[in-house]
Amino acid sequence: MRSIFGWKNGDTGKGGATAAPAGNGNDNAVKLEYTSETITTAMLAQLDNTRDARFKEIMQAAVKHLHAFARDVKLTPSEWIKGIDFITRTGQFCTPARQEVILLSDTLGLSTLVNTMHDKTAMEEATHSSLLGPFFREDPPKFKAGEQISRKDASDEIVLWGKVTNVKGEPLPNAIVSVWQTATDGRYDMQADENVMDCRGEFRTDASGNYLIRTVRPMFYSIPMDGPVGDMIRAQGRHGNRPAHIHFLIAAPGYREMVTALYIADDPHIMDDVVFGAHGDLVAAIVKDRPGSPVAGANSIKFDFALSVESDADKKSGRVGADPSKLGAAAGGA
Ligand code: BEZ
Ligand code: FE
Repeated sequence: MRSIFGWKNGDTGKGGATAAPAGNGNDNAVKLEYTSETITTAMLAQLDNTRDARFKEIMQAAVKHLHAFARDVKLTPSEWIKGIDFITRTGQFCTPARQEVILLSDTLGLSTLVNTMHDKTAMEEATHSSLLGPFFREDPPKFKAGEQISRKDASDEIVLWGKVTNVKGEPLPNAIVSVWQTATDGRYDMQADENVMDCRGEFRTDASGNYLIRTVRPMFYSIPMDGPVGDMIRAQGRHGNRPAHIHFLIAAPGYREMVTALYIADDPHIMDDVVFGAHGDLVAAIVKDRPGSPVAGANSIKFDFALSVESDADKKSGRVGADPSKLGAAAGGA
C-alpha cells in the first residue's frame, strides 16, 4: 500500500520519518512517526530542490536552529501560540512611519551582529558602522555647508565638522553626508508628524573633503515602547533607552556606503544602549570653542570619517534597515 507520500508501508521516508501501518484497524491508514529529531531531517529534505543556493543555505540553517531552540526550551503549544501572537502583532504594528520588525531586530542585538560581521568584510578598516535604526528616511532635505537642520528650535546649537577621507586620509570631495537625529524634545520628526521632515538633511563635502553641519544637541531617549517590542522590553526588565546620538549615512562613488552614528560622550546610557549601537570609537565629545573649529566659540563635535573602497559584493550587500515607507518595495518579495 502506498501512502500519499509515495512510500510503501514500512518504508523509511527520505526525510527520516517512519512510515508504518497505523495498527488502528482502519484500512489504508499510514502512521508517519515524526520524532523531535526526525521532523528536522524531514523538513530539511523538503528544501533539497531550492533553486537559489544561498537561500537554501540560509533556510537550512534557520530550520536547524529554530528546531534546536524549540527542543532546548521544550516549547509548549501555548508558549508557541504566544510567540506567534507576538510576531503577528509586531508585523501588524508597522506603518509607513513605524518599523516594529527592525526595532525587534535591533533590540535583540541581531542588527548589530549583522553590521559587525559586515564591517569585517570591508576591503579596508574604515570607521565602524552603527545602526540605521527605524527613523531613517530617503530623500531628506538638501542643505548647503554650515546650514542649520533644526527648523523649530535651534537654541542649543552644536556644530558637526571634520573630513570624509579614504583609509589613507586622502579627502573625498563631494561625498554625501546625510544626518538625522532627535529634535530637542527627544523625538524624531516622524514620531511627531509623519509628513514633516525636521532635524535631518543631506550635505556634501567640499573640495578638501570637509563637511560642516549645524544642528542641535540630541537627547537620550526611549525607543518606542507603545508596541509589542516595548511589551517585550518591559517583560525583560530592560529600560529601553538609547544614548543621545546623531546618525550619519556617508556615500562617495567607489567607496563602501557608511551607515554609522556618533554617540555623545557623557551620556548615561553609553554602556547599556538597548539596541547595542554605541561602540567605543563612535563616542564623541561636544567641546566648546574647540581649536580649529570653523565656527569660533561654538559647541562642536569634530569627527573624521574614513571610508573603505567598495568591493563587488558591497554593491549588493544592502543595509540593516530602511525608510519604513519604502520597506516592502526594498525587500522586493521572496
Ligand atoms: C535610533 O537610532 O533611533 C534607534 C535605533 C534602533 C532602535 C530604535 C531607535
Ligand atoms: Fe536614532
